Amino acid sequence: MRIWPLLAVVLIIASCKTSAQSVKTSDRISTQVDSVLALMTLQEKIGQMTIYTTDWESTGPTIKAGYQNDIRSGDCGSLFNSHTVAFTRKLQEIAVNESRLGIPLLFGYDVIHGYKTIFPIPLAESCSWDMAAMEQSASIAAAESAAAGLHWTFAPMVDISREPRWGRVMEGAGEDPYLGSLVARARVKGFQGNNFNGTDKVLACIKHFAGYGAPIAGRDYNTVDMSERTFRDFYFPPYKAGIEAGARTVMTSFNDLDGIPSTGNKWLLSDVLRKENGFTGFIVTDYTSINEMVNHGFAADEKHAGELAANAGVDMDMQGGVFQRYLKESIAAGIVSEKMVDEAVRRILRIKFELGLFKDPFKYCNEQREKAVVFAPAHLDAARDIARKSIVLLKNNNKTLPLTKGKSIALVGPLAADRGNLIGAWSGAGEGDKCVSVLDAFQERAAKDGFKLMHSKGCAIEGTDTSGFAEAVRIGREADIIIAVIGESKDMSGEASSRAHITIPGVQEQFIKALVATGKPVVVVLMNGRPLTFPWIAEHASAIVEAWWLGSRGGPAIGDVLYGDYNPSGKLTMTFPRDIGQVPIYYNLKNTGRPYDPNTKWNSRYQDIVNSPQYPFGYGLSYTTFTYDSMIVTRKDYTFSDTIIATVNVKNTGSVAGEEIVQFYVRDLVGSVTRPLKELKGFEKNKTGAGRE
Ligand code: GLC
Repeated sequence: MRIWPLLAVVLIIASCKTSAQSVKTSDRISTQVDSVLALMTLQEKIGQMTIYTTDWESTGPTIKAGYQNDIRSGDCGSLFNSHTVAFTRKLQEIAVNESRLGIPLLFGYDVIHGYKTIFPIPLAESCSWDMAAMEQSASIAAAESAAAGLHWTFAPMVDISREPRWGRVMEGAGEDPYLGSLVARARVKGFQGNNFNGTDKVLACIKHFAGYGAPIAGRDYNTVDMSERTFRDFYFPPYKAGIEAGARTVMTSFNDLDGIPSTGNKWLLSDVLRKENGFTGFIVTDYTSINEMVNHGFAADEKHAGELAANAGVDMDMQGGVFQRYLKESIAAGIVSEKMVDEAVRRILRIKFELGLFKDPFKYCNEQREKAVVFAPAHLDAARDIARKSIVLLKNNNKTLPLTKGKSIALVGPLAADRGNLIGAWSGAGEGDKCVSVLDAFQERAAKDGFKLMHSKGCAIEGTDTSGFAEAVRIGREADIIIAVIGESKDMSGEASSRAHITIPGVQEQFIKALVATGKPVVVVLMNGRPLTFPWIAEHASAIVEAWWLGSRGGPAIGDVLYGDYNPSGKLTMTFPRDIGQVPIYYNLKNTGRPYDPNTKWNSRYQDIVNSPQYPFGYGLSYTTFTYDSMIVTRKDYTFSDTIIATVNVKNTGSVAGEEIVQFYVRDLVGSVTRPLKELKGFEKNKTGAGRE
């Protein structure tokens, strides 16, 4: 006999009891949680601490067959990689109608930069430095996800990284802790809003805790080794910001940090996250990261790994099934306390109550809302808007850009007509074929404005075939200007996608050389998920636009910028090296005792390359120019807790309106420890008319 009615009775009593005393919501929820906990067997408690992927998609090495039976038996309290109202309703019905207690499931998914309306990859969005735009992007992603039956996104990824070889830099906000913290806050706010009373917000998940973005040699999952000072100064701030913004979940990272795998790291999870920073939500592991502590050589076997994870503070085991298989035995042996399990289950049940799932397990299951919200035209317009803001103009010799209307164009390159790659890595339920390519956008413009548009692919992203060069060169000679759209494939970045050489793959650079040899101006549009090295192109192209992976409306956004309908305002949030040999290279470096001097020997330099990057953090051009003058700071001396107020006059000295991101950096000249040459501590993005201040 299912006791869902009994659970309902218990919840009604619990609600009546607490509402009579009109106690705060959180106390009411505590009473309700305790009432449910009291009904649960130990196996059911452990079930709430277990999440499995469905077989709809795979985001890791294993898929567990028969997860439906785990739901029925109460051995699985959450699922991921399952979405749409139809599918989540079906699974929720199993939980609510076929399990003993009918505790509703939580549905999670990697909605990293959009559910169906795909936004620019997070690294691209961060180059907009526009927190309101990033909050809106996350808010739309939340609305579409919730409309599709989802309760929880495994985002924002807030791992700071100085490692362009690491494929997951595409998922974060670059190398700076101050900017990364603001972005973390904006995204949590966008996903979660102020409460879950409606049906358009989802749980955020701060990941990957912690230090995942600093793998040695840039190889995903590799060892992370840094001092606590480096961790707290440069890598921890965005995690902290996300917690302070109210994120309700945190995901542990695969890596070890200073020898201790994050998933079994009591200092990280219990001391830093909970005690020091007051995190009250629940901690989920990454995909089988408990099991992987055996590979790390930190656990003797999976049972031992489960004990280490539980005692470190992990609440939910993602996909590993370790808690399900061994935790009961560990509790019986007194190695893990049932009291600790109760605390973990309380945190998970509380969040299910906060979402309103006990009141209505099908609250997020409305097919009419799903049809109305997913891919809404307003969402696609917003995607185009933030895509334009994410574009960074890296070079513009002789005002090659903006394009002159009416001029004939040769649009070439392997990514010019490509739609599928525009969604980038970690694009979940995104549909590449629904993107609008650069060629689509230019064909629409040509039809409206009547200019001559020619297209030829020229070459592939990878491979050695140069047979397509000739046709592309031919149309290039015929056109007034050549636009070459080149770069990586979307699968060259993202998880398990590190690259030792971050050059532009295949024969694309040779292709650009052939185009430049025509003598026509060549505009290079880059599509990539990480900083790349392209010194020859940097020197010889007429103009270079960093377009990243811009999502559903990437093509039109690129057209808007190339034609000057939008004056590019993006600034890099991650340093572009000249050569992989400079990596790690980042702006907030220290002076050292022998600071760089290219003209003498005995200093911190290379024999074969300068120290400076190809393009630094904070760099980006505009179609107009700005001058800065008369910067004033309110005082000469400051104490540690003082606020520095700096003002500067910024004048638009060009002929078109534009947005400038005014950046404020500080340097601690003499510290009790060595400090970076410069640290970003403030910025403002302002739009000014031509010739105006
Ligand atoms: C993956 C990723 C993590 C993701 C999780 C669920 O391995 O590391 O970011 O949220 O598994 O898909």
